[in-house]
Amino acid sequence: MSEPVIEKSVTVNPGARPRGETSEAAAAENVRDLFDSIAPRYDLLNHLLSMGLDRRWWRRTARSFRTVLARPETRVLDLCCGTGDLTAALLRLRPRGAEPITGLDFSTAMLDRARSKFRGANVIWVQGDAMRLPYADGSFDLLTSAFGFRNLTNYADGLAEIHRVLAPGGQIGILEANQPDGLRGWGYGIYFHHLLPMLGGMISGRRAAYRYLPDSVMRFPRPPQMLGMMRDAGFEQCAWDGYLLQAAGLYRGVKQ
Ligand SMILES: C[S@@+](CC[C@H](N)C(=O)[O-])C[C@H]1O[C@@H](n2cnc3c(N)ncnc32)[C@H](O)[C@@H]1O
Repeated sequence: MSEPVIEKSVTVNPGARPRGETSEAAAAENVRDLFDSIAPRYDLLNHLLSMGLDRRWWRRTARSFRTVLARPETRVLDLCCGTGDLTAALLRLRPRGAEPITGLDFSTAMLDRARSKFRGANVIWVQGDAMRLPYADGSFDLLTSAFGFRNLTNYADGLAEIHRVLAPGGQIGILEANQPDGLRGWGYGIYFHHLLPMLGGMISGRRAAYRYLPDSVMRFPRPPQMLGMMRDAGFEQCAWDGYLLQAAGLYRGVKQ
């Protein structure tokens, strides 16, 4: 894991803002509609556009929490679970008779796909908003999210809500895309800002959705800022583990 960087947050962007949206409510509605619209092709495009790396990254994230997942009583929430692949990767590391994992998302179409892909799995699928979680304080011991947190319309409020529903000693694992710096960033930029929106738009028929993807990564805080925001929200032992030339990475933290 990378060394924690001691830095306060420099919040340039409060949260996701799909093109043209100014209010948080309108942005959230836009994000939900966008995922509803791409849900039928989401898995195919995810695997294709990430060249299969998504699967490795979900598994790697799940393995990072192997110890806590091995305890049957651990209460796990996979936030912005989408079609459920990180949820399933977490599930594989659960022992027999373990508490079910909760997978929560606000897109009906994404959740429907999760339900049908993982029928009969030990998961409770919940439709809900990450910004107003339908749980009491301290309800979970582990909260994960893969490529979902970036879409929240207010990162500081999102982290506060995550902190609220975690029990003392609870851990977070946020897997997010990142914009690498330097030469790596240049090569990545060509793929991410040109090729990916073109291919994604062509295959899904939803060009705007696949323009939003690189835009949202650009807007998202870089690791030092995100780690600062996590500390501001009350998390300790905050660290970022960069995956594949830092094109993505896992943010970890603990609620004391
Ligand atoms: C890029 S997908 C990631 C899905 C899945 N975790 C994965 O790794 O494939 C982002 C998901 O976040 C969900 N999402 C975004 N904002 C949300 C919110 N405020 N509350 C709940 N879900 C949200 C979207 O509906 C979408 O399913």
